[in-house]
Amino acid sequence: DAAEKGGYEHYMRKEIHEQPEALRQTLAGRLDVDAGNVDLDVSFPPGFLADLEEIRIVACGTSYYAGRYATQLFEELSGVRASVEIASEYEFGAGRTPDRTLVVAVTQSGETADTLGAIRRAKEAGARTFAVTNTLGSTVTREVDETAFIRAGPEIGVAATKTFASQVATLAMLAVAIGRERGALAASDARSVLEDLQGLPGAVQQVLDSEPQVREAAQAYQDSEAFFFVGRALGVPVALEGALKLKEISYDHAEGFAAGELKHGPLALVTPETPVLAVLTDGSRARETMNNVTEAQTRGAPALGCVSAGDAYDTLDVSFNVPDVGIVEPLVANVYLQLFAYHVANEKGRSIDKPRNLAKSVTVE
Ligand code: G6P
Repeated sequence: DAAEKGGYEHYMRKEIHEQPEALRQTLAGRLDVDAGNVDLDVSFPPGFLADLEEIRIVACGTSYYAGRYATQLFEELSGVRASVEIASEYEFGAGRTPDRTLVVAVTQSGETADTLGAIRRAKEAGARTFAVTNTLGSTVTREVDETAFIRAGPEIGVAATKTFASQVATLAMLAVAIGRERGALAASDARSVLEDLQGLPGAVQQVLDSEPQVREAAQAYQDSEAFFFVGRALGVPVALEGALKLKEISYDHAEGFAAGELKHGPLALVTPETPVLAVLTDGSRARETMNNVTEAQTRGAPALGCVSAGDAYDTLDVSFNVPDVGIVEPLVANVYLQLFAYHVANEKGRSIDKPRNLAKSVTVE
C-alpha cells in the first residue's frame, strides 16, 4: 500500500500531484495547435454536427461539475446550445428534438448507475450518445455511440481530483473539435484555446509548487464554522466543486454559490467565522466577483482568492496566484481548492481516501 502511494501519505494527495502528468496524457497526440484542430478519434454521421441543435450533458458528483464547466465551452466554442443535468434527474422532456441532440455522459468510472440510466433514457428517445470516461471497457463505453477517454490513469481516492481536470480538458477538446467541424470556430480562435490547453500541465505544476502556502492557509482557517466558495461564469462549477471536495473529506460545512447570489440569501450566513474562497481568474468575471467578496468582507468574513497572474486585490487576506492560461484558469484555480480541502482534512486527521458513507463508484440508483 505504502509503495503504491509512492511516498505520499494519501492517494488523494498523490493524485492531486499527478495532475500535470495526467493532463499531458489527456492531451497527448490530440492537438494540432498550428492548424487549430483536435483529433479525438471520434466520428459523427455525415451532416449530424451541421444540424446539431443541442448538447445535453448528464453526470453525477464531481463529473457533473466538469459537465457544468463544459456547457459554457460548448456554447462559446461549438456554437451549440448546451446544458447539464444531474443524471438522476434527467428526462428527455417534451418539445425536444432527439435526432438533433447529442447527449454526453461524463463519468470517471463509466459505471455510475444514475448516469447509465440517463444514457438509456436518451437512447430510448432517439438521441445520439457520447461518453467521456477514464475507464476502458466500462459499461458506459458499450452503451454509447462514441467514447473519448480522458486517460488520467487510475484514481483510487474516493474524492475525484485528477479525473476532474482531465474531464474538463477532454470536454474542451471536444468543444473545439465540434466548433471547427461546424465552422463555428475560426482557426485562430481555436489555436488560442489549444495553446491555453497546452499550458495547463505547467500551470498546474506551478500551483502544486505553492502547496506550502495553501497548507498554511488551511491551518489558519481549519476551525471555521463553515466555508463558502464563490465564482461567476466558469468560476461557478469550480466553486461548487471546491465546496464538494471540502465537505467530502473534512466533514465541514461547505457550500458553493454563484457569487451574484450571495446577496440573495447566503449573505445571512456570513460571519467572521465563515471564510469565503473566491475564483478570481480569467473566465470567471473576476472584478464583479470581487465586488461580492467585498460584501462578505464587510460582514467580517475572511477572504481567500485564486487570482490571475498580473491582477491583485489588496484587500484579500490570502491570495493564490493562478498562471495565465485563459479559459482554463478556473480549472487551475481548482487545484488550489483541492489542496485546501486536503490540508484542512489532513489537519483534522480525517479518513481522506475513504470518507465515511461515500463510495468511489455508485452502482445503485
Ligand atoms: C461517486 C464518487 C464521486 C464521483 C461520482 C460520479 O459519488 O464518490 O467522486 O464524482 O460518484 O462518479 P463517476 O464515476 O460517474 O464520475
